[in-house]
Amino acid sequence: MKENINVNVNGVSDFISLEEIAAHSKLAVRHLETLLSGTGPGNDFLGWLRLPENAGTQTARIEKIAKHLRSVSNTTVVVGIGGSYLGARAVIEALSHSFPHHQKDKNHEIIYAGHNVCEEYMADLLEVLEHRNYSVIVISKSGTTMEPAIAFRLIKDHVERKFGKSVAADRIVAITDATKGALRSLAELNGYETFEIPDDIGGRYSVLTPVGLLPIAVAGIDIRELIEGAKAAAAITRDNKDPQKNPALIYAATRNLLLQAGKPLEIMVNFHPKLHYFAEWWKQLFGESEGKEGKGIFPASVDFTTDLHSLGQYIQEGQRILFETVLSIKSSPAKVKIPVEKDDQDQLNYLAGKQLGEINKSAEIGTIIAHTEGGVPVISVNIPSLDAYYLGQLIYFFEISCAISGYILDVNPFDQPGVEAYKKNMFALLNKPGYEEAGKKLREKLKQ
Ligand code: PA5
Repeated sequence: MKENINVNVNGVSDFISLEEIAAHSKLAVRHLETLLSGTGPGNDFLGWLRLPENAGTQTARIEKIAKHLRSVSNTTVVVGIGGSYLGARAVIEALSHSFPHHQKDKNHEIIYAGHNVCEEYMADLLEVLEHRNYSVIVISKSGTTMEPAIAFRLIKDHVERKFGKSVAADRIVAITDATKGALRSLAELNGYETFEIPDDIGGRYSVLTPVGLLPIAVAGIDIRELIEGAKAAAAITRDNKDPQKNPALIYAATRNLLLQAGKPLEIMVNFHPKLHYFAEWWKQLFGESEGKEGKGIFPASVDFTTDLHSLGQYIQEGQRILFETVLSIKSSPAKVKIPVEKDDQDQLNYLAGKQLGEINKSAEIGTIIAHTEGGVPVISVNIPSLDAYYLGQLIYFFEISCAISGYILDVNPFDQPGVEAYKKNMFALLNKPGYEEAGKKLREKLKQ
């Protein structure tokens, strides 16, 4: 049997007692039960809970369409924002070559669009696409989000001019609501292949639907392994009421106790830059789920050792309001060893023969000790290896931890009402129909 991920809380014992964690994890079982019984806030958005078992029904079709896109193109542009993009990017970047142009799977590159409205980004992208044989996956549950809608309008125009309308239609896939939204109508009108995003699954909990699975499959990653990993995580979290052995209960309880102990900021730490986007996904998951009603832990992230030379100083000695959650990968395949140098000019011969991974691990252990001694509690999430199976475990583990943690905080972890505020102002400034009056008021305010 394969090992599972686990949570180690020894690094918080100087700040909260392990007995407190055990007691709080026990209380957290109640929140897990509320979640499973569908009686808590946001209970119409719980479809993700059963995705590990249900996702398999679509795997064959997803793989078929992924194969088609890979056969007609060598690049896929994934258009989406927030939960309609971060999960796919998190997994793809974690499992791809560090240098995109030398991807292990050299046959297919994934490029992202629709996650900003920066003119230079789009101009650069359109320039790159001039020289690419590409396909497009456009993802938006609402089908009306402005960033991906604008990007898709531009890319659709480009792909149709480049390949002609019917070839373009053959290489565009839309993932959206079953019936509602502009993207659904556009897809039907143009005859695109489509996948549905279930009503009861919100964006940031949708990685294990076609939202995440199709781009991940197009990138050449085994989505069956990802789903198997999620299944294993469901067994040790969702289906496990033992507070001593359920890592989601332990993690949710510990981070909430740390919040109560005056630590409102959690930093996700990696020592593998490939996990940068995994932390971006995690930040959205926890930030949108918990940050409401004046509550929540602020999720931040760092890539170590890089950021030890920038934010390391603050973490070690700045305001003592932080705690860290380290994604600790047990083994990395032996690829690079330090060579011996005859003259030892750089005085590194003491490292000769060592794997770079061993040096990175020493940096990790040394950092954890320094930070805990410096007043920063550290939770470790131990991951046997960086592959699709364990990413599947991590995704489900963090999703269910987040839902339990949201319930501990007494918020609805499945809505995001605050996201609308900036949109209203932007629409008013852009004179979107229906926003004219608000636009007038805003312009008056800006004059003052
Ligand atoms: O988690 C969420 O619900 C959000 O981040 C959405 O995924 C994001 O706003 C994109 O929405 P949509 O898929 O409707 O374009």
